[in-house]
Amino acid sequence: MKLIFERSREGRRAARLPRNEDLPVPEVPSELRRSRPPRLPELPELEIVRHFTELTTRNFGIDTGFYPLGSCTMKYNPRVNERVVALPGFRDLHPHQGEDGAQGALELMYELQDMLAEITGLDAVSLQPAAGSQGELTGLMLMRAFFADRGEGDRRRKVVVADTAHGTNPASVTMAGYELVKVDTDKRGNIDLDDLRAKVDDETAGLMLTNPSTLGLFDEHIEEIARIFHEAGGLLYYDGANLNAVCGISRPGDMGFDIVHINLHKTFSQPHGGGGPGGGPIVVREPLEPFLPVPAVVREGSAFRLDYDRPKTIGKVRGFTGPFGVFVRSYAFIRSYGPALREMSEVAVLNANYLLARLREAYELPFERLCMHEFVLSARNLKREHGITALDVAKRLMDYGFHPPTIYFPLIVPEALMIEPTETEAKETLDDFCDAMLEIAREAGERPELLKEAPHRRPVRRLDEVKAAKRAIVRYRFDDHPELEGKPSEGEALEAQKGA
Ligand SMILES: Cc1ncc(COP(=O)(O)O)c(C=O)c1O
Repeated sequence: MKLIFERSREGRRAARLPRNEDLPVPEVPSELRRSRPPRLPELPELEIVRHFTELTTRNFGIDTGFYPLGSCTMKYNPRVNERVVALPGFRDLHPHQGEDGAQGALELMYELQDMLAEITGLDAVSLQPAAGSQGELTGLMLMRAFFADRGEGDRRRKVVVADTAHGTNPASVTMAGYELVKVDTDKRGNIDLDDLRAKVDDETAGLMLTNPSTLGLFDEHIEEIARIFHEAGGLLYYDGANLNAVCGISRPGDMGFDIVHINLHKTFSQPHGGGGPGGGPIVVREPLEPFLPVPAVVREGSAFRLDYDRPKTIGKVRGFTGPFGVFVRSYAFIRSYGPALREMSEVAVLNANYLLARLREAYELPFERLCMHEFVLSARNLKREHGITALDVAKRLMDYGFHPPTIYFPLIVPEALMIEPTETEAKETLDDFCDAMLEIAREAGERPELLKEAPHRRPVRRLDEVKAAKRAIVRYRFDDHPELEGKPSEGEALEAQKGA
């Protein structure tokens, strides 16, 4: 596929506006003026449309195929959400709109706060954080403010994190200025209670835990874990990235957690592959409410307003009231499910267990248990027997038209394949995926070279992923392509390195 600069031909235009001679020429100081116009691509409109349309066909998304990326909850994004968020009253709202003119938006946020409090079994909500990771940092800042207020801030310096945790957990702990204490996982995939007991004392501020964990397993001792922390005067933080497994079934607040973040973009749908937009609201038990970010959305009679009057607040963590478009979509999603939200989680768990039951004949299962909404297999049997790694399996899956699962995470499972089907997939899709995974396991024994060189049928072959991520090429290197300066070079291989 050609780059847009390669399609460019001097003088071609999508549109030409008549020059308005009546407008004054702006005064631009000479030192700020360009010496020559920027080298922008020059194309007619049709060429531009074709170029970008072709680009979209090279992408992969939940709308084009099954996307079982573990821990990311890549579910269908209902189109009604997009209709609702595009209603002019929401879409055209300015962040500086006065409260009187934004009553509908404030009411939506107020109701969303209420619904999130009910779903998590806790008392007070801040919608501000823009992602799960920012929710984590906010939650830990709340912990600090809470203990500082009680005069225990200097003593309680440690936060315990499970060895299965998502990388953002230890990162947030460190960013919040806490000392990280790692706790092991036992043979059934629960937190190792003996290890935990040895690590919790009166210097402990709290625990960060995902439940179900990133292994897709619900911790069987969660009440005992909560007791250990609360008896030591600590708090429990719930990383809600896996809330899709338990909505309407069990609530973090009832399990004993004191602070929860919710990944709105996962559990309550949002087109989020590729980095956003996200929402990571924080929900807390009542004693932590005074420290929540401002403003809070409050109700006074039949009116709604923003309340900044929280003397103990940790301050703002994001502009205005948070990612409003995400709130509208999540609100629409939760309202359209209503009480059937429980069914959403039940089907997510059922789908995951169906896949697990079919795939365990070909891949190793590190923990002999039913799973929740996702599960982790290991390709170490394929590595041992045929030299085939989790990466090879993932790359080959792309040839079968599926997005690969999350691989090499959680870190405690070698050659991990972490699979999350979500509730929105049809049984036929789940079966096609299983057929492909089983076929790949067969290919590993019969034609391993096929897997080693995969993918074969995608626009891009196997890349050096580290280089692709760390050395992104975002600038066109004109000097290496003289044909764009009007000096065509015959047959030059333009599919090679094109930028710097
Ligand atoms: C278990 C877990 N915790 C936290 C996060 C961080 O959430 P976000 O990507 O919204 O920052 C993720 C993201 O994938 C996750 O899977």
